[in-house]
Amino acid sequence: MKSNEGMPILPVEAYTSQAWFDREQERIFSRTWAFAGLVGDVSEPGQYVAVQAGLNNIFIVMGQDGQLRAFHNICRHRGTQLLRAVGNTKKVITCPYHDWTYSLEGCLLSVPDRRNQFPDLDMASLGLKKASVASWRGMLWVHPDDNAGPVEAWFGGVEPHLGPHRVDELVEYEKGRTEYTIAANWKIVVENYIDSYHLAHLHSGTLSMYDHKRIKSGFEGPHFHFWEPLSREYAADVERNAPTPLVVPAEQAGAWVPMLFPGIGLAENEDSWSVFHLTPLAPDRTRVVVRTKLADVSLLKFASQSIRSYDFWSGRVRGKYDSDGGDDPMASGDFMQEDIYACEQQQRSLRSPYFEHGPSAFKGEAGVRRHQELVMEWLGEEQ
Ligand code: FES
Ligand SMILES: [Fe+2]
Repeated sequence: MKSNEGMPILPVEAYTSQAWFDREQERIFSRTWAFAGLVGDVSEPGQYVAVQAGLNNIFIVMGQDGQLRAFHNICRHRGTQLLRAVGNTKKVITCPYHDWTYSLEGCLLSVPDRRNQFPDLDMASLGLKKASVASWRGMLWVHPDDNAGPVEAWFGGVEPHLGPHRVDELVEYEKGRTEYTIAANWKIVVENYIDSYHLAHLHSGTLSMYDHKRIKSGFEGPHFHFWEPLSREYAADVERNAPTPLVVPAEQAGAWVPMLFPGIGLAENEDSWSVFHLTPLAPDRTRVVVRTKLADVSLLKFASQSIRSYDFWSGRVRGKYDSDGGDDPMASGDFMQEDIYACEQQQRSLRSPYFEHGPSAFKGEAGVRRHQELVMEWLGEEQ
């Protein structure tokens, strides 16, 4: 496809209307594997996590037998959500409304005042509805359909394009866990993630340690993959220059930054691994939670790496614009703040009657066009 052929693929309403948002929730986010956490999040019987997957709230719980199971978070009585986001239920799951109680394996165990209130109750038919659960590359995944098939069939094609990281062997940097609520449609956030044209410009002061001229990117099925090498200066002595200890061998250093459909970004690089979990909240609001893992080495090693790399980094990372104000994202020197700023400003312009789609960069925005086509395909013909 040539750069501007067929653009715009998605109309402005796709980014602003509740009707588009609802269709995407139903046809995209309710029909795909959803990120539910890191494997260590559910590691003992009774521990659980709940996640929103489109129209479905699903929880994963570990049974007494050590097995992970996923269920729709809906009480079989009048539908109340059973569990809150994360926690430990001990031995059973009890609904807060009327105390119907289920086993960790999803069977209905007890109903208060059953003999008087429900003389004919068929307990066996009122177990929790199952969903699918899987672990893949150190992450937990759920699918609303109990028969979703193997997660590898969904992600397998993109796996060869991902980093050599052993995610299970890294440790979470808890202080690095960050949650953002971005005033933009989820597709603007995804498009920003897969737009390689902006890297050398919006992030001229924050991502100059990578060589944006040697990017390799593309799609495998609906999943976007992206790789870029280190800049020459950074690569000259990456073992010394990396701000934290390396998580891959020095000769493989670089950044793998895929966006798994429909909204799970990974940032796998030479000294860290992060997951960027996007949840659409409203046509113009998107939540992103970022969790980061680092090398499993001593604090002393982190401290000495930070000292060793200090000279390389001092003065190298800076904001795009200077500012007197303390909270200008464009002066922050933080690439996430720069991205959020760009996404939110773009969303605002969509409301102007003077907005029209401009030309699309041949290579640097090819991923943006492909993602828009994918959204159209998943929503079906009658758009
Ligand atoms: S809705 Fe759960 S016990 Fe009534
Ligand atoms: Fe960016």
